[in-house]
Amino acid sequence: MKADIGLIGLAVMGQNLALNIARKGYSVAVYNRTAERTKKFVDDRVKSEKIIPTYSIEDFVDSLEKPRKIVLMVKAGQPVDDMIDELLPHLERGDLIIDGGNSHYADTDRRIRELEKEGILYLGMGVSGGEYGALHGPSLMPGGTKQAYQLVEKILLDIAAKTENGPCCTYVGDGSAGHFVKMVHNGIEYSIMQSIAEVYDVMRKALKLSSEQIGEIFEDWNRGELSSFLMEISFKIMNWKDEETSKPLVELILDKAEQKGTGKWSTQVALDLGVPAFSMAASVFARVVSYYKEERQKLSKRYEPAVKRDGSVEVEELRRALSLAYFLSYSQGIWLIHEASKSFNYGVDLLEVLRIWKGGCIIRSKMLDFLRSLLKNSPENVTFLDDEEARKFVEERLPSAIKVSNFARSCGIATPALNACLDYLFSLISENLPANLIQAQRDFFGAHTFQRIDRPGTFHVEWQTLE
Ligand code: 6PG
Repeated sequence: MKADIGLIGLAVMGQNLALNIARKGYSVAVYNRTAERTKKFVDDRVKSEKIIPTYSIEDFVDSLEKPRKIVLMVKAGQPVDDMIDELLPHLERGDLIIDGGNSHYADTDRRIRELEKEGILYLGMGVSGGEYGALHGPSLMPGGTKQAYQLVEKILLDIAAKTENGPCCTYVGDGSAGHFVKMVHNGIEYSIMQSIAEVYDVMRKALKLSSEQIGEIFEDWNRGELSSFLMEISFKIMNWKDEETSKPLVELILDKAEQKGTGKWSTQVALDLGVPAFSMAASVFARVVSYYKEERQKLSKRYEPAVKRDGSVEVEELRRALSLAYFLSYSQGIWLIHEASKSFNYGVDLLEVLRIWKGGCIIRSKMLDFLRSLLKNSPENVTFLDDEEARKFVEERLPSAIKVSNFARSCGIATPALNACLDYLFSLISENLPANLIQAQRDFFGAHTFQRIDRPGTFHVEWQTLE
């Protein structure tokens, strides 16, 4: 009996995905570079599931039904290339490799091209939902050729999270579309996480609320329009007590945020494609600056800024500000995917993306239904802003968001993501921006030319005498 599918890489995500597939009735051959981990996995976690442990690449490949379908759950970057190199001599034309890691989309495009020459099919598949999602139903974002997708469509639909709108998996598009969409998913994730963290900061520092009180508020918010996975885990985190000290654990965690790169890549490609992803960038920088703990400690002793707290904010105003930040974070992300889809010919269906983000993934939220309704009304409205319902939504929350930003400033609290969301919005809804002055400056020192609002053409002025 040959296995229906194979999986390489038995870190927690790989183990859980293998178990998920097996629990849907498929037989899964597994392989890990270090044999001990495979043994331990089988001993500790495999019960009646049809999981076949293998201890060499040859045995692994041999144990698979043809055309072979192989999921890689290894660390993004060089390990993926190394594994492909190891596999390649044992594969045959028509076999399929699926990379389920957070690979950079350009790597995925390169791998597709290289493997095409060998007749090997390749899917770059975003997998979201962390360890829990991998086991109980992730959101899956596969991209590559349709032919490759069709080979595993049934398995993927079976293992994906389910919502009332169907399984959270769809064929995302050509080439690296799957990994691109997952990368932007993470850019949105960064922006929403940072926005929640900033609201938390205002609550604890300015409103002097305890972690438990903030937990109660977050729990309440999670029942309304902010209902989302990130809100849910945030209230659970607030209520979590450290066993040894009985203090809320969150208060004992060092404030240095790590990152694996997907938020940074989203920001980089937003710059390349010319999408103003203000709050994605701000959220990456917020993580970067958090890392300078020693410098911050030193400088915080030197400075005592003459901030004069200006009034206060209501919890309801914080809720509205955060709600607007959610909306605008999705707006930047969907716009970015739209531009990439045009530039890279991905053929992404944005409505489908919003649908498969509804379950399993880290950025699942109630708001996605509202966003889908906006996009359904007008498929060109990729920022969501160009709509009467959206205008009402934004304008109802905007005064609170402005008040929260101003208030935080007046207390000396940094709220980079919330501010960046507002700047993104204000920039987009301003007919006039001061770019006229930028153009004049460029023309002044570099003869870069400018256009005029009162007549067509390209102009240059001799702003200075050169002799
Ligand atoms: C997911 C997550 C996941 C990601 C982590 C860590 O959708 O399940 O996005 O894929 O690896 O969130 O990312 P950072 O280390 O960059 O925070």
